[in-house]
Amino acid sequence: MSRDTIEAIYRDRTPTSRQLFEEGRSVNAGAAKGAYFHAPYPLTLRRAEGCELEDVDGNTYADFSNHHTSQVLGHNHPAILDAIQQQINDGIAMGSATGIETRMARLMCERVESLERVRFVNSGTEATLHAIRLARCISGKPKVAKFEGAYHGSHDAVEISVAPPLDDVGEASDPIAVPTAGGMAPDVHEQTIILPYHDLESVERILTRHKDELACVMLDPKAGIIPIQPEFMRRIREVTRDLGILLVFDEIVAFRQSAGGLQGNVRFDPDLTCFGKIIGGGFPVGAYGGRADIMDLVDNTEGAASVFQSGTHSGHAVAMAAGIATLETLTDDAYAHLNGLGQRLKRGLDTMCADKGIVAQTVVTGSVFGIHFGIDKLENYRDFARADKALAQSMFLSLLNQGYFLAQGLSMCAISLPTGESHIDSLIAAISTAYDDANE
Ligand SMILES: Cc1ncc(COP(=O)(O)O)c(C=O)c1O
Repeated sequence: MSRDTIEAIYRDRTPTSRQLFEEGRSVNAGAAKGAYFHAPYPLTLRRAEGCELEDVDGNTYADFSNHHTSQVLGHNHPAILDAIQQQINDGIAMGSATGIETRMARLMCERVESLERVRFVNSGTEATLHAIRLARCISGKPKVAKFEGAYHGSHDAVEISVAPPLDDVGEASDPIAVPTAGGMAPDVHEQTIILPYHDLESVERILTRHKDELACVMLDPKAGIIPIQPEFMRRIREVTRDLGILLVFDEIVAFRQSAGGLQGNVRFDPDLTCFGKIIGGGFPVGAYGGRADIMDLVDNTEGAASVFQSGTHSGHAVAMAAGIATLETLTDDAYAHLNGLGQRLKRGLDTMCADKGIVAQTVVTGSVFGIHFGIDKLENYRDFARADKALAQSMFLSLLNQGYFLAQGLSMCAISLPTGESHIDSLIAAISTAYDDANE
């Protein structure tokens, strides 16, 4: 089946989505947030329940995107509905602390070993922005190092070398900093140092060269995108500690594997960690936290804080209620279920690829997953960038036609708690059909 045929089927099934998308563009720039858009137009969804979505044309989909990984309990989980209803009855936004943010902070500090204090914001982007400010303030150093291909949100310090064209990136062992977004401050990329994943020798050399100007290293474990080796992450911790550079760990997607987070599984202790996605239970939230001596720079209760940080809706009570319900529902059994489904999916996809002779890399990080076609290794951004993106886009549409909603690009998809083994098995069959469709 050609891409045109796959697209024609999609258009036939979703005329109301198309109409609403076109109407929306006249008043709502792009009619969808960046991450939602895909050609020819994105679905408009009407409702969701458990692990299922329904669009405005009445088509249903097994949800393997789960709102960019954040809906770990699926949709309309009773624990979340009860918690937010209770909070709405008590008061939605009351202009002062309510105590619920302390409950949420305590829950996180009890669970994640490296957390002594946390602070809530409204998104992952804000979390990384403020973590970097703290790192700059306490270290007195200006620059930030991040890995090539890592995404830490949309602000100037980190929107560098997120998805740079391979022609612009320079030597693999010494990547060039490439600004990713338009409208950034001029020369801002000169403040950001780019590191290659899984090349420890080069990382050590680059960090040593810049150690006196580096406030922190941002480390994104690329959950469901690139399988970053635990040993590599542990070595980054040691190297940064030896060089006197703070390590900021981005668990915004990865905080799905166990109560203690990915860092608990990998057994390493960053100085600061950024959170988002699941900790809001579907509501906008972010958090950053870590060592008390660093976090206390934002504590303004005893005079002016060294770092001013504020936000009208930070630590919003309804988001906190949903977050607490989420974390409390994620028992050891729940994590075992989610991680077990992730492993079942990995085995099934690997077997399917081997049986059909498909060259692909499957990445499963707990319950976050991706499948990248046409590459025989996946160790860093440059391998990832060589994957067959056009095939993934056609397969994504074919999967929608079959009733499966994945993340576009088939990267950073996610499994939710109401998902069962039969959903996983039928997803593997659907991916196999999508591959055949897109290659006919
Ligand atoms: C690893 C990572 N860090 C940071 C962010 C930014 O989070 P937000 O979209 O909430 O600003 C994202 C978003 O997808 C992410 O994947």
